[in-house]
Amino acid sequence: MSANQLDTKSQAWSALFSEPMSELVKRYTASVFFDQRLWQADIAGSLAHAEMLAAQGIIGADDLSAIQKGMAQITQEIESGAFEWKLDLEDVHLNIEARLTQLVGDAGKRLHTGRSRNDQVATDVRLWLRGEIDLISGLLNDLQKALVEVAARHVDVILPGFTHLQVAQPVSFGHHLLAYVEMFARDAERFADVRRRTNRLPLGSAALAGTTYPLDRARVARTLGMVNEAGEPQLCQNSLDAVSDRDFAIEFTAAASLCMVHISRLSEELIIWMSQNFGFIRIADRFTTGSSIMPQKKNPDVPELARGKTGRVVGHLMGLITLMKGQPLAYNKDNQEDKEPLFDTVDTLKDTLRIFTEMIGGQINPATGEKEGGITVNREAMEQAALKGYATATDLADYLVKKGVPFRDAHETVAHAVKAATSHACDLSELPLAVLQGFHPLIDKDVYEALSLRGSLNARRTLGGTAPAQVLAQIERHRVRLG
Ligand code: ARG
Repeated sequence: MSANQLDTKSQAWSALFSEPMSELVKRYTASVFFDQRLWQADIAGSLAHAEMLAAQGIIGADDLSAIQKGMAQITQEIESGAFEWKLDLEDVHLNIEARLTQLVGDAGKRLHTGRSRNDQVATDVRLWLRGEIDLISGLLNDLQKALVEVAARHVDVILPGFTHLQVAQPVSFGHHLLAYVEMFARDAERFADVRRRTNRLPLGSAALAGTTYPLDRARVARTLGMVNEAGEPQLCQNSLDAVSDRDFAIEFTAAASLCMVHISRLSEELIIWMSQNFGFIRIADRFTTGSSIMPQKKNPDVPELARGKTGRVVGHLMGLITLMKGQPLAYNKDNQEDKEPLFDTVDTLKDTLRIFTEMIGGQINPATGEKEGGITVNREAMEQAALKGYATATDLADYLVKKGVPFRDAHETVAHAVKAATSHACDLSELPLAVLQGFHPLIDKDVYEALSLRGSLNARRTLGGTAPAQVLAQIERHRVRLG
């Protein structure tokens, strides 16, 4: 086969085939229109491989420099949009290799020595995903910072904390937001962990069994930055596993699903809080839309879509994990189906993290240098809501316990007090002292401090509790942690 013969896929492998591939099969099996986004990883992997082949004396130094020159030109062609992607050449790997051969002749044909598309694609996907994980980690950091700063401005804003969506106890709005910071911090840990298992080198496994050439796999790993914290090269240790493993993609999608679930929970709260019945917050107009029929509406489209897109990412997790089920060793073409769900997961997650950071924390207006947008809090509405539903009932029980009443008895006493307050349609703190004393003689004037929202909040000083002093300590810890 001469240099410019590698134009169609059936020519890409051999003369064994007696008829060309049908158009339908060609379209069915091709991946180039989605896997072309791996091109940078593909070229990086090829250059590292070629450099090692030359160092090992498997190809000549002149071959290496031809390959490097050709790849530089291909890079420039792809970046400028001049590169012609051919469906006939099935995927990103064959497209780039064919163009290289067209440009530099035999040196291009030597590149694939000791390599298969099976270890090549596994390497490409890992390299690409590693870069995306790094971007996502940065975005998660930004989102956490935005939440921490909004929390810092609302440490003593009180809203009702719910269990079963029934008013339970007063909590600080800052504290409430920091609950999400904890979730996103765990997400970041999970992505860091996935990164460690993603950052391992399949190249050198060839089609499935390893190769007869004296490859230096460690050298390739080092060139590609596939090293651990100690700088040791990270190599996939079993060739059969290396070409067929997509655990890293499944794990990544699982971590992304969980992260989206956290976003979805936050979305649900934002939607509830900005409904007319709550009126706790407003989000900037640019994150809402109007209705084509009801002129009064401002709909929380962004949080709603994020909640919806969570289903899409969880769906990708189901798709990927099912893709692997039942695959015998080693590589099977099924694995080509890993890309679209993985790509879409990355795109959806990145966009969602960006938009949430802006929607919650606002963004700098370049004209004024001021932060604009972000959520606005109606502290009156939050506190009014916290005064409904006897949010400080537990505080009355705790008050009695501190005066020596056993907790179960105190609980019962308070139930009677709540019943009385309900029949008077007032809060516990609005019952006259004489009435309260009718429920228990140990009740005194100081009970009103215990029954106040602020008294209730200040009293919850355990580590991780909602007392402002605790919340401020957590904010400090997060600020240091997030840099
Ligand atoms: N496009 C293929 C994929 O994404 C590359 C590997 C193909 N290998 C093969 N033996 N057909 O998985």
